[in-house]
Amino acid sequence: MTSAHERWTPRFHLAPRRGWLNDPNGLCQFHGTYHVFYQADPTWPTPGKRGWGHFASRDLVRWEDLGEAIMPSIPEDADGAYSGSALVVAGGAPGGGDLLRLYYTGNVKYEGDHVHTGRDANQIMVTSEDGVSFSEKEVLLRPGDYPADLTRHVRDPKVWEQGGRYYMALGARRADDAGNVILYESADAVAWACRGRIESAHPFGYMWECPSVISLGGRDYLVVCPQGLPSEPTRWQNLYQAGYFPLPQGVLETTQVDEATFVELDWGFDFYAPQAFTDEGGRCILIGWMGMPDAGYTSTPDGLAWCHCLTVPREVTVGADGLLRQWPVTEIDGLRGFAQPVSPAVGAILPHHHADIELAGIEGDLELGLDGRLGLSFSADDGLLGMAFRDEGAACGRTERLMPLERLRELRVLVDGSAVEIYVNHGEAVLSTRWFPTADTLLVTLHATCERARSWEMGGEAPSA
Ligand code: FRU
Repeated sequence: MTSAHERWTPRFHLAPRRGWLNDPNGLCQFHGTYHVFYQADPTWPTPGKRGWGHFASRDLVRWEDLGEAIMPSIPEDADGAYSGSALVVAGGAPGGGDLLRLYYTGNVKYEGDHVHTGRDANQIMVTSEDGVSFSEKEVLLRPGDYPADLTRHVRDPKVWEQGGRYYMALGARRADDAGNVILYESADAVAWACRGRIESAHPFGYMWECPSVISLGGRDYLVVCPQGLPSEPTRWQNLYQAGYFPLPQGVLETTQVDEATFVELDWGFDFYAPQAFTDEGGRCILIGWMGMPDAGYTSTPDGLAWCHCLTVPREVTVGADGLLRQWPVTEIDGLRGFAQPVSPAVGAILPHHHADIELAGIEGDLELGLDGRLGLSFSADDGLLGMAFRDEGAACGRTERLMPLERLRELRVLVDGSAVEIYVNHGEAVLSTRWFPTADTLLVTLHATCERARSWEMGGEAPSA
């Protein structure tokens, strides 16, 4: 019998060995090495202050745990080094080498309601020439530098270069409770001037967190995480959302977005604060947090030493409909080991909870079960795909999610300990969830008509120190 810790610890999803993780931060590839920073609270479950933890990899599958990268240490980040991004500047170092710039929000709390009063958000930068040691902190923007109609919530700088200039998008909450993105511009990526904002035509949540911009196929997509959208049966089912607006114009020409065009990036229970970056090979890669702030469900049922994980790196492309597709980077395929057929009428018993299950050429309705506890069902008549827990022990408060879907053709299910990512129709949609199975083997039940159904045992190992 394996322990809960062994069964639930992922092999190819990034999770801290100890402590807390939330948003992915500072995603980049610098001198060939992929860097994934993340919101970390190493002292969790004793509440401490958030900073940036650091994983690095040459291949997106074997990761090194580099410990803490940025922790609160100055008055301007006294209560947390919050989320932010990376900018690689070729030849930007004083000696002519390349420079990695990391931007984050220094959070400071004092007496007040922490929305309209009692909080400072400072945008701060550190630099690095090797990706592992970081400079002194430099405070770039302070509360007095933001538009006067904002609350104290202004954070999560996403910085990029465009046409020889630098731009920073900040997530913000306006005093009248409207989510906004505030845009700054700079010639040197150090001195910033406010150039405008992006807002929705009609109210669309009170706060937008973690902005990111994806430029693909000649089009810009503005990624944001709106808070405060009312849950409906087939959309916005999570407490907070993570999605994007396909922009009719370039992001720099955009001042208003049509909220009706907002597309959710994931339909599962556990997905938030995604960040995208372009790697040295030109791929757009997105990683999300497999968690949900303030959710009424737990991710540490028996007191695991670690809390939360990230999604696998997903390659983002554009479909013929102009919408984004997400698919595990091909490096994940390299972890596939022993292959086993899955019977479309029965299913299969897999040796453990680390598997890559692929169903292709699906016709009509489908029922897929994992351990009899987590079910996926598609009804062509209803035009709905549902993911539902049938067992509270495995669900830990998660219930059911529904998404509109006309036709189901393909499914790919990554099971990795307590992490499950379900890719629909080659990445047209994704549903991510945590779950807490108790069996040693993974029982897959399947009732479907499909041309091909098979599964691979997945290798991989937790990040090494
Ligand atoms: C999103 C978020 C960010 C913030 C960070 C703090 O989950 O609230 O807006 O920077 O988490 O950990």
